[in-house]
Amino acid sequence: MITDENVGLFVDCIGVKSDFRGGGVGRMLMHKIQEWASVKGAIAIELNVHEFNRGAISFYRKLGYDTVSQKMSKLLDGARAAG
Ligand SMILES: CC(C)(COP(=O)(O)OP(=O)(O)OC[C@H]1O[C@@H](n2cnc3c(N)ncnc32)[C@H](O)[C@@H]1OP(=O)(O)O)[C@@H](O)C(=O)NCCC(=O)NCCS
Repeated sequence: MITDENVGLFVDCIGVKSDFRGGGVGRMLMHKIQEWASVKGAIAIELNVHEFNRGAISFYRKLGYDTVSQKMSKLLDGARAAG
C-alpha cells in the first residue's frame, strides 16, 4: 500500500491502437513502466480503470494488478440535459 512514507507511480491511461491489440504490446508497455518505476524507487504502481472496461480489467489482472479501492459515482438528475 502506498503511504506518506513511500512513493508509488500512477498510470493515468495506456492504449494500444486497435490493429495491434492482442499482440503483447500492452504487456510490454506496462513492463517498461514497471522497470522505470523500480529505477525511480517506487514501491507500487496504481491506476484507475472503469468498471465497464472488462477487457482492460482482465488485462491488468493478468499482469498481477488487484483491486484495492472502488471509486463510486452517481449521475445527477438533469446531467444528460445539461451535457
Ligand atoms: C487494454 C490494452 C492496453 C491491452 O493491450 P494489448 O496489447 O491488447 O494487451 P496484450 O496483448 O499485451 O495482452 C496481455 C495479456 O492480457 C490479456 N488481455 C488483453 N486484452 C484483453 C481483453 N480485452 N480481455 C481479456 N484479456 C485481455 C491478453 O490475453 C494477454 O494475456 P496472455 O499473455 O495470457 O495471453 C488494449 O486493449 C487497449 O488499448 N484498450 C483500449 C484502451 C484501454 O482500455 N486502456 C486501458 C484503460 S485506461
